[in-house]
Amino acid sequence: MNKPEEFAELKFDGKTIKLPVVRGTENEIGLDISKLRPQSGWITLDPGYTSTGSCQSAITFIDGEKGILRYRGYPIEELAEKSTFLEVAHLLLYGELPTAEELDRFTDTVRRHTMLHEDFRRFFSALPKDAHPMPVLAAAVGALATFYPEHDDAESLNHVHVGVVRLLAKMPTLAAAAFKHSIGQPTMWPRNDLDYASNFLRMMFGVPAEEYVIDPVIAKAVDLLLILHADHEQNCSTSSVRLVGSSQSHLFSGIAAGISALWGPLHGGANQKVIEMLERIATEHGTADRFVERAKDKSSNTRLMGFGHRVYKSYDPRAKILKKTCNDVISRVGGSSQLLEIAMRLEEIALNDDYFISRNLYPNVDFYSGVIYKAIGIPVNMFTVMFALGRLPGWIAQWMEMRADPTFKIGRPRQIYTGATVRHIPGR
Ligand code: ACO
Repeated sequence: MNKPEEFAELKFDGKTIKLPVVRGTENEIGLDISKLRPQSGWITLDPGYTSTGSCQSAITFIDGEKGILRYRGYPIEELAEKSTFLEVAHLLLYGELPTAEELDRFTDTVRRHTMLHEDFRRFFSALPKDAHPMPVLAAAVGALATFYPEHDDAESLNHVHVGVVRLLAKMPTLAAAAFKHSIGQPTMWPRNDLDYASNFLRMMFGVPAEEYVIDPVIAKAVDLLLILHADHEQNCSTSSVRLVGSSQSHLFSGIAAGISALWGPLHGGANQKVIEMLERIATEHGTADRFVERAKDKSSNTRLMGFGHRVYKSYDPRAKILKKTCNDVISRVGGSSQLLEIAMRLEEIALNDDYFISRNLYPNVDFYSGVIYKAIGIPVNMFTVMFALGRLPGWIAQWMEMRADPTFKIGRPRQIYTGATVRHIPGR
């Protein structure tokens, strides 16, 4: 931490506590309360961590009011237009976009680790066919740690690097294998001459009986989706990765925790819920207006999925990019644009409705991503898996940053106890 020159004062109960002020490079201000309890006996209380920073990080910057997202300083719009997912992964993990030579080396190393251990085949057959692929993926990544116990050694940079590469390389193989198992088709093994997105598409949709022809427009759309999901600072899943990693557990077990957190409908699982919402509106011949009314009614337990965000209080820049991509993909694959039309109608109504305006609720990344996944034939229960594939380099980069931080401590929040005061078992 930088040496504090500024302090805020907290006065309570006859005591004055000086809290060091920490300023980020974008002038964000944090009050360092790490010594508050030793000095005063008090703690701060912030359920959902709405006003709590858990770390200092140099990876991703978000300005939720202005709708800005940057990875390592680069605007998401530029990265989306001018880079590939593996370049962005390199940027997040190692701090810089790779030179051509570095990219070749990185890509080549990732390619050489795409296969799974032969004994891993039996893992999938132990699980029910209709299992949701997110817990399957979480379990698979956790189980992968048993094949690579050496990555426990976070002190060895080489072990960490190989672990990082293994995860990046094997996640698409695992995800596609989970899908193939669920539909009863033979697993397609990776083809290392293909780029990251094309290789994944072939493992998902190819069959051994015939050649799978890759559509470069679809592969590019998948690569873009992975870039847009690659990191988002201290969200629920990333904080889970950091918290689990803070106990110095194996890298893969932290990532398994991140996948589990991402599965929830208030986080990455929202992309599946969005498409289910759009399909329901379409099949019930309901109008978008009626659905928006229901989402505003607190007694209905309905939310406009894909709308609202803890950090963005304006348009999510990723949703802006995806809205544009939706049209390109749909016109390419020649599918129905009905769901996109419903989504755009929902957006139009909500953005002109006082309920959404007053609460700063705008489309988030999940609002349009599902429409693209659907158009390119990704099954609905695989949407959140796609999110996990994209978020992987961000989770790992955050884990690496935490483990390299000299102020690193095990994460252990406090609480305010509200239960019974001491009592004793009567008559014994
Ligand atoms: N539809 C209707 N009302 C909403 C919505 C929504 N999608 N989102 C928030 N609100 C309302 C809440 O009811 C609340 O109203 P109130 O002040 O009258 O009680 C107000 O807006 C604030 O909402 P909170 O839930 O307190 O906001 P929070 O920051 O905790 O939650 C969240 C953010 C979880 C994303 C929320 O907006 C939501 O549930 N959205 C729908 C699910 C979704 O799209 N999740 C994906 C998020 S992006 C991601 O994880 C990748």
